[in-house]
Amino acid sequence: PVFPSYSPLYPPPVENSGSQIVPDFSDAWDVAFAKAEAFVSGLTLEQKVNITTGEYQEPILCVGNIAPVADWPGLCLQDSPLGVRDTDFNTLFPAGITVAATFNRTMMRLRGLEMGQEFRGKGVNVALGPMMNMGRVAQGGRNWEGFGTDAFLSGEAAYETVLGLQSVGVQACAKHYVDYEQEYKRTQESSNVDDRTQHEIYQKPFLRAVMAGSASVMCSYNMINDTYACENDRTLNQLLKGEIGFRGYVMSDWGAQMSTLSAVAGLDMTMAGGIHLSTPDGGSWWGPNLTAFVDNGTISMARMDDMATRIMAGYYLLGQDNNYPNVSFNASSLYDTVHDKHIDVQADHYKLVREIGGAGAVLLKNTDGALPLNKPRSIILVGSDAGNGAMGANGYSDRGGDDGILGVGWGSGTANYPYLVSPAAAIQERARLDGSSLTNWYLDWDTEGAASAVEQVDVAIVFVNSDSGEGYITVDGNWGDRDNLTLWHNADNLIQAVAAANNNTIVVAHSVGPSIIDSWAENPNVTGIIWANVAGQEAGNAITDVLYGAVNPSGRLPYTIAKALEDYGVFLILGGDNDTILSIPYTEGLFYDYRRFDQYNITPRYEFGFGLSYTTFEYYNLAVSVLPQYDPTDLALEAAWEAGVPTPQGEGSSTAFWLHRPYVQVQFEVQNTGALAGTEIPQVYVHFPTGSGEPPSLLKGFDAIYLEPGEVQTVTITIPRYELSIWDIIAQGWSKPEGSFTLSVGASSRDFRLTGPIPI
Ligand code: NOJ
Repeated sequence: PVFPSYSPLYPPPVENSGSQIVPDFSDAWDVAFAKAEAFVSGLTLEQKVNITTGEYQEPILCVGNIAPVADWPGLCLQDSPLGVRDTDFNTLFPAGITVAATFNRTMMRLRGLEMGQEFRGKGVNVALGPMMNMGRVAQGGRNWEGFGTDAFLSGEAAYETVLGLQSVGVQACAKHYVDYEQEYKRTQESSNVDDRTQHEIYQKPFLRAVMAGSASVMCSYNMINDTYACENDRTLNQLLKGEIGFRGYVMSDWGAQMSTLSAVAGLDMTMAGGIHLSTPDGGSWWGPNLTAFVDNGTISMARMDDMATRIMAGYYLLGQDNNYPNVSFNASSLYDTVHDKHIDVQADHYKLVREIGGAGAVLLKNTDGALPLNKPRSIILVGSDAGNGAMGANGYSDRGGDDGILGVGWGSGTANYPYLVSPAAAIQERARLDGSSLTNWYLDWDTEGAASAVEQVDVAIVFVNSDSGEGYITVDGNWGDRDNLTLWHNADNLIQAVAAANNNTIVVAHSVGPSIIDSWAENPNVTGIIWANVAGQEAGNAITDVLYGAVNPSGRLPYTIAKALEDYGVFLILGGDNDTILSIPYTEGLFYDYRRFDQYNITPRYEFGFGLSYTTFEYYNLAVSVLPQYDPTDLALEAAWEAGVPTPQGEGSSTAFWLHRPYVQVQFEVQNTGALAGTEIPQVYVHFPTGSGEPPSLLKGFDAIYLEPGEVQTVTITIPRYELSIWDIIAQGWSKPEGSFTLSVGASSRDFRLTGPIPI
């Protein structure tokens, strides 16, 4: 990709094969800090406070606003992680889970970049994304906003998204920090997480976002080990600003601040500014209260300066002092004729939306080449997910309804659709070209009718979905989190009825996450299954590309699809009352999703990393070597690590360059052995030494390799020391466990093609 030169934060090139380079943004931060310090030194205490306190009085143009101070115009903060929310003439991009399923860093980066262009075009200073919570519980309502259940994949997606967004001068906001894994009682629960699990899983994508230069981080609603996330000295000061060396600012989630003293725990900005989310007259923890606390010495002036300086540093880091567009919309009303200029920021972004939708669709089953479709004489589309909803794409506020093609979940993590292409609309165009007869059956509950409609038709494509979202909206009895993992709208019965009457039944699922599909997955009349995730405004075109083979599927599951809900072993915690804090013990530690299935030998329906293609690939000639020394200044640290000594403590110790530079090189060949061009997603899994306490296999590298029929390519993937370390809770450092390491290269977390020792 070519990066516009708006930003002084010139991003490193996309390196599809792994953490090849460690971008060094420290000079850019130094320059930004010098400017920020100069600005803040000229301010009164009240002005410094105003920089930290969201303006919650009218007019509220953005979802979060910092009012102007002196000649500085203030800040506009706006959702969401998949496009500009609450506006028009914007693009609704595929959700985080869908771009994660591409396992393609270029697409992750470009999606960030194009979203960034739209935020900038609307005058948004801070885009409230990416969202990087970890899909710990399969039913978690907001999992689709994020990048799946693996910390490495999520970290890479976060890294690329932040680089993309910030390459066009928009501040990213990595959220929600941290351990926010269910909607139920999100403001009244304590996620109780041990130190090692915290470091190795939940914190990891934030570390990668910081390495990409993220200007801001949002602390979450929940408690962590009995202290609220936005009041948490351990996570904010010690981990984020200490170990990880984060130099930007921490903002609260909307209403997640709990006290004036949170400043001391590391909070730098309060959003939306008022104590309560929805009652602007309730006053603020900060504003005049912060002024008073600084005046009476409870909070030091040094800390006050640090808060304001960090916020201003984010602004200067992205060059927003240089011709940044003004806010041109009103998030609370599209009909505000004074402020809403309805600027069209879409450019040709629909193309990437369609491309990611296709690349993020996962082919799970394909019996005897049922797919791609080859000019079928007759087609029937079954299920309401094939068509447009009766109330239109934006009929439900914040997409809080499930009717028709599902392109996104619900809540603040959404945007308005400019339009929404249904599968029916896209397939109809193709059917016309092919001369296929095309009909449909959208009555999900009339399975008898469906069964008779599909008789004698060459191919029956059943479109089904499963929805979830943020907990302030309840859809069909689901309070944000999903009540269960059953597909919606009578899907299982519908599929079974259709498959009983038609022996060429293809299922397409637009699902926010894994669903249990065992009642029909092995039915021989179900000849194809495509897990299409939630693909955004071009959903219909994207799935049509895959169904007809214009796109050869290369998507991979960013989570495990189990045979039964119980197999996940980690569940929503429900119950509790209004006066108590719900305790959520993360006693599974490192063992959830594929790490658990591997550890306890549980056979999944489809494993993490799985996905088929219309062609076949073979792997050859694995060579694993240790790379030569890169920078002699770090020799001693590297040698100590190799001898098993944990990294020294100190600010930025977890993001130190020596720990993240390429260390082990993995090389192998991949060949397309089939008749069609296609993309393979080779994955590298490391097997830590026995006794290290790690799960059997951990994803530590991936790439997306496009190959013509017969073509062979050598793939190189590098692994840094950090990815071969465990968190030592006693020494409080990253260390290399004793014993021998091996790795496997393959097409999924269970389909290993090459295995060998790591010579370290
Ligand atoms: C609450 C959500 O948790 C967060 O993700 C969002 O950015 C804010 N509301 C602002 O809408």
